[in-house]
Amino acid sequence: MSRQRAHWDQENAVLGPGLSEAVQWAGLVIARAEGMHLYDIDGRRIADLMGAAGVNLLGHSDPAYVDAMTEQMRRWMTGAHASTARLEMTRQLRLLLPAHLDRVQLYSGGAEAVEAAIRLAKSATGRFEILSFWQSFHGRTLGTIAHTSGARTGLGPAAPGSISAPYADCAHCPLRRTYPGCGFACLDLTRQILDEQSCGSLAAILAEPVQGRAGNLVPPPGYLEQLRALADERGALLIADESMTGMGRTGTILATDATTARPDIVVLGKGLGNGYPVSAVCAPTSLMHTPPFGAPSASSSSYGGFPLACRAVGVVAHAVRKRNLPERAATAGRRLLDRLRKGLDDVPLVTSVHGVGLAIGIALAATGKPQMRAIVTALVDAGVLVMTGRHTLRLYPPLTATDTDLDDAADRLMAVLAEHRWTS
Ligand SMILES: Cc1ncc(COP(=O)(O)O)c(C=O)c1O
Repeated sequence: MSRQRAHWDQENAVLGPGLSEAVQWAGLVIARAEGMHLYDIDGRRIADLMGAAGVNLLGHSDPAYVDAMTEQMRRWMTGAHASTARLEMTRQLRLLLPAHLDRVQLYSGGAEAVEAAIRLAKSATGRFEILSFWQSFHGRTLGTIAHTSGARTGLGPAAPGSISAPYADCAHCPLRRTYPGCGFACLDLTRQILDEQSCGSLAAILAEPVQGRAGNLVPPPGYLEQLRALADERGALLIADESMTGMGRTGTILATDATTARPDIVVLGKGLGNGYPVSAVCAPTSLMHTPPFGAPSASSSSYGGFPLACRAVGVVAHAVRKRNLPERAATAGRRLLDRLRKGLDDVPLVTSVHGVGLAIGIALAATGKPQMRAIVTALVDAGVLVMTGRHTLRLYPPLTATDTDLDDAADRLMAVLAEHRWTS
């Protein structure tokens, strides 16, 4: 038995079985990490395109990040009192976020922040219904599973007032229509669904600007603007869950910055802390202050606004701006997409290569779990780690990755997919 298998067996004797499938399939035991690479206990170097599902924004062990966090840990790390770390974080975020999103409330994880955003929307509108979309991922807490595709199976009813409609997934249009000729027929259906199911109390439309777990699915141009219009039409707010897309990953600071759809509430997570668990709800003062959400203590959490979280956010926000990381994600993403498209063009296993910035999806021809597992392990053997979702390999390299590292990882990945033959 390999050393890594023996290590996993020891951990698995105690851990619950709920870790991410792709992590379990990869079976890696990591000794250290740097930039875009993980080094396992056998000394193998693995190109980390999984990036902890989009968390690894600056690259592993980024020196400025490590120095700041170490310094902050020595100085003070427990308590939600005011601090230089928190003041600096507010300054940095103000420089990054759209002017209307002038308030930030901190939490520890994406799902917790999505729940808070929903509470905020309910507080601000006095309504209770939430519209979300097929194939979405917004977390696995009891409130968010109403809005996470497939997460409720075996867990009983969704929260009352949860409504869901098809996303603009043009490659798998449930209406068998083609964009742009369809004129957003999916939104006509969404309106019909609301007419049939809503009791006229729609508080918010909750959407990912790019659907991550659906395979980094980018909606057609104009879709988010249409969602904005729909929200206005129904007197509801628009919540953009930018947990995965925010902080530059898709080529702009927020993915919604590339559109004219101004969300009322934005959720940030993942890359926001570059590995330190911190998330945020960003909203205008006028919304944030409405009770009950805006009442003292009503939206606090044990760790929200702790100094280490604030230091992490401050350092990340500074790096995103000063190192032009959104621009880097746009350029490197276009280059990587182009290389993958050219290289995978005639590979029968691959049905499409798509994405935006450094959130890329490689869709595979109808692939079951055993085959997905075989592909993930073959990739790890070739020195590349990817994330999975639906029938798609999802790539989230750090925004600091070099062209050389990305090219090398893409070439290894393409060689595995070109050679892969499935025998069940
Ligand atoms: C868009 C989106 N929202 C929310 C979440 C949940 O975040 P967390 O796992 O930190 O609770 C995720 C996680 O993948 C996500 O991609």
